[in-house]
Amino acid sequence: MSTITIASLLFVLLTTTSAAIKTVPSDIAALKAIKSAINPKTIPSFTCLYSWDFTSDPCSPPHVTHFLCGLSCSGNRVTQLTLDPAGYKGTLSPLVSKLTELITIDLSENQFSGPIPSSIFFLPNLETLILGSNSFSGSIPPAITNLKKIQALDMSHNSLSGPLPKSLTPLTELTRLDLSFNKFTGSIPHLPKNLLELAIKANSLSGYLQKQSFSESGQLEVVELSQNSLTGAIPGWFFLKPSLQQVNFANNAFTGLEVPKPINSNLIALDIGYNKLTGYVPVNFTTYPMLASLTLSHNKLRGRIPWEYSKKSTLTRLFLDGNYLIGLPPKDFFTGKTSLSGSLGDNCLKMCPVSSELCLKSQKPLSICQQAYRGKLKPKS
Ligand SMILES: *[C@@H]1O[C@H](CO)[C@@H](O)[C@H](O)[C@H]1NC(C)=O
Repeated sequence: MSTITIASLLFVLLTTTSAAIKTVPSDIAALKAIKSAINPKTIPSFTCLYSWDFTSDPCSPPHVTHFLCGLSCSGNRVTQLTLDPAGYKGTLSPLVSKLTELITIDLSENQFSGPIPSSIFFLPNLETLILGSNSFSGSIPPAITNLKKIQALDMSHNSLSGPLPKSLTPLTELTRLDLSFNKFTGSIPHLPKNLLELAIKANSLSGYLQKQSFSESGQLEVVELSQNSLTGAIPGWFFLKPSLQQVNFANNAFTGLEVPKPINSNLIALDIGYNKLTGYVPVNFTTYPMLASLTLSHNKLRGRIPWEYSKKSTLTRLFLDGNYLIGLPPKDFFTGKTSLSGSLGDNCLKMCPVSSELCLKSQKPLSICQQAYRGKLKPKS
């Protein structure tokens, strides 16, 4: 065959296949509705949405001038709606739910406002829903549990509010949930069984850590709940979850801590700084085999630093500053055998050597320490 015949054959093939694809009318109607719910002044010429020109077919290749980006199709159906972070301003049309073959929605880093249309929660094939860094408001309706195939859900950095749904257990495929930086109130939902990462940082969650919330989630590796108003004691069963690797409870109102010896633990990093913890520095943390980073800064902990901490070879970061710890810090912290960083400052310790980075921040004035121990602390003789 000559090159010319091959070329013309290819041409015929290409044109016939592209002609064969005609996006289903309801998908086209939904895409039109999505575009028209966005303020055209916020659609500059370099953006994906600008190239959405409905004089051509959205799913038909080649996409040389029209529908350059922002969506993908499989055959004649739209399967991905992935807008560029162009700062689009507007609402999300409820007609998005007509795109019933959608697997992925990513509208992150734009300025969508108003409620998340609840019709979105009836998309039967949705696996990824990323609405982070927008201005969505309103609450998350219970209908969210219809997203049976959802694996990743990111609604972080919006203005969402209200209590979270009581239970997310029907979302059996969900592995990543990020609701951080919103205004959610109430308690932590009953979490689904395959969840690996939970992030609800910087909200207004309150109440105790309830065993029921975590009873099914045996795979949880990352728990990020800092900057909320959680209270009560952090219970021992929590630390006994062997899957946990990174836990952040900083900036809450926890008052206590139960730390059992683990049977099996993968905990690497734990931050409970800036809470209201009372009691002693738990010696049992030194029995967590992987623990590398521990932060208990700015609480109301008392007593001595258990010497076991200076023998714990996995530990590379230790922040105990801003408590009322007394006595001599374990001297093996300062022998240079370990490369421990962190801080023991702003406590009531004796002879914390300023040659060590750990002691750079000075100790509390004696009067404050005496007051904390109601005069039971004898001045240095
Ligand atoms: C340390 O762990 C053991 C075993 O889980 C427990 O009985 C004990 O109370 C814990 N110690 C402290 C001080 O919490």
